[in-house]
Amino acid sequence: MLRVKIQHKYHLNCTQCGHETPNFWTWFEQNQQCPECGSKHSEVWYNRRYQRLSRKMKRKPDSFWHYFPFLPLLRRRHIISRGEGAVPVEQWSFLEEFARKNYDLDINVHVYRNDLNGGTGTFKDPAASMAASLFNEIGIKQYCIASTGNSATAYAKYLSMAGVNCSVFMPEDAIRTSEATISSYGQQVFRVMGDYTKAKEIAAGYARLHNIPMSTGNIDPIRVEAKKTMVFEWLRQMDKFPDVYIQAVSGGTGPIAIDKGIREINHLWPELKNPRFLLVQSDGCDPMVQAWEKAESAGFPEGYEKEYPVIDNPQTEVPTLATGNPATYPILAGLVRKSGGAFLRMREKKLVPVGKLTAYEQKVIPGPASAVCLAGFFIALRKNLIKNGETVLINIGEGPNRAPLFLEQMIYTTHNVNHVDQCEPHSIDDYRAQLWNDVLED
Ligand SMILES: Cc1ncc(COP(=O)(O)O)c(C=O)c1O
Ligand SMILES: [Zn+2]
Repeated sequence: MLRVKIQHKYHLNCTQCGHETPNFWTWFEQNQQCPECGSKHSEVWYNRRYQRLSRKMKRKPDSFWHYFPFLPLLRRRHIISRGEGAVPVEQWSFLEEFARKNYDLDINVHVYRNDLNGGTGTFKDPAASMAASLFNEIGIKQYCIASTGNSATAYAKYLSMAGVNCSVFMPEDAIRTSEATISSYGQQVFRVMGDYTKAKEIAAGYARLHNIPMSTGNIDPIRVEAKKTMVFEWLRQMDKFPDVYIQAVSGGTGPIAIDKGIREINHLWPELKNPRFLLVQSDGCDPMVQAWEKAESAGFPEGYEKEYPVIDNPQTEVPTLATGNPATYPILAGLVRKSGGAFLRMREKKLVPVGKLTAYEQKVIPGPASAVCLAGFFIALRKNLIKNGETVLINIGEGPNRAPLFLEQMIYTTHNVNHVDQCEPHSIDDYRAQLWNDVLED
């Protein structure tokens, strides 16, 4: 823990009124909100020379902490890391070939595999590492978070490494493997009888009652600062910054952080702009898609972004993404519209087919939320949302380890036998046509 509060590395600025908060000690003292206007949305800015960033980009990182000069931590010794955010951007040629053969498109398709993150193998590891390191530095010992699963799992692990107690509030339908993982680190789980909205309410009440800071969700500057480093990594690794970005969306920290990262370095890379955000939800919980489709058919009337449905107790096979009350939609809708993107709906009956096809063609087994994202690629092609010559980045968030029941649905080559005569050699290629057909047929 560090006691020195006067520092010149960074400060926070309220996105609503511009009020400046000098550091994270003060940010937490003022309850993670702006003392002037009450907004919880502040952004971190640095008094740094960004030329250093270009130099940093010449070297391969071990983790997102490679970008330490542009992260809100004062001392490196406080870092708690498991090699997160240092993920190679892969090129997936089976998707490129599909686009060429079926849509006559010559595109580059890259995949950013968060399942390769060191901590818990999801989207959420860099944010949790940032939080644990910061709490280590400013001396926070109790924290709480409401989460559909992956955030809480990552926070539970990293905060326990930092010796921080973390109370986790999960909705009733959260995957048991997540609960088990959190519990195994010794962190406390409250399974809330109700949906994610209810879990957030109870968590907020608990935070007030015990005066314990709570994660403020997708606009939390801690999360945004960690995730913005994706922009640095794509600039470092890719010949061309993506034109199109595809992500399964629940609350949307990804696009919010990409936008922040780009604004932060625009003075050095003036040509850099947001990719077209194609944000995917499954038909089991698609409030943002519903809101978007309604706004689109009405020609995006004034204030369209404030109109969105709230889905109570969403029934979905991807509880990880089940944000029924999409409070960040107003921010995301603005970003998506400005980028020329869209919100897309995939059907949950395609989850397993997409999972099986990806495992077969690419030898990467996606988790359910990643299958939602990958399905978005096929939908984007069908809707003509990708143009010839473009570079597409698909940001997948998890492998199958957290969803064993999803993985089990991928069994399709098994024969039950009791005699050797029943066993014949096989040819892998024989499965291909059926697997593609299962993804593409209506
Ligand atoms: C694997 C995975 N993909 C995508 C998302 C969606 O992220 P966000 O909440 O930032 O929209 C999540 C969130 O839990 C996730 O765990
Ligand atoms: Zn303010």
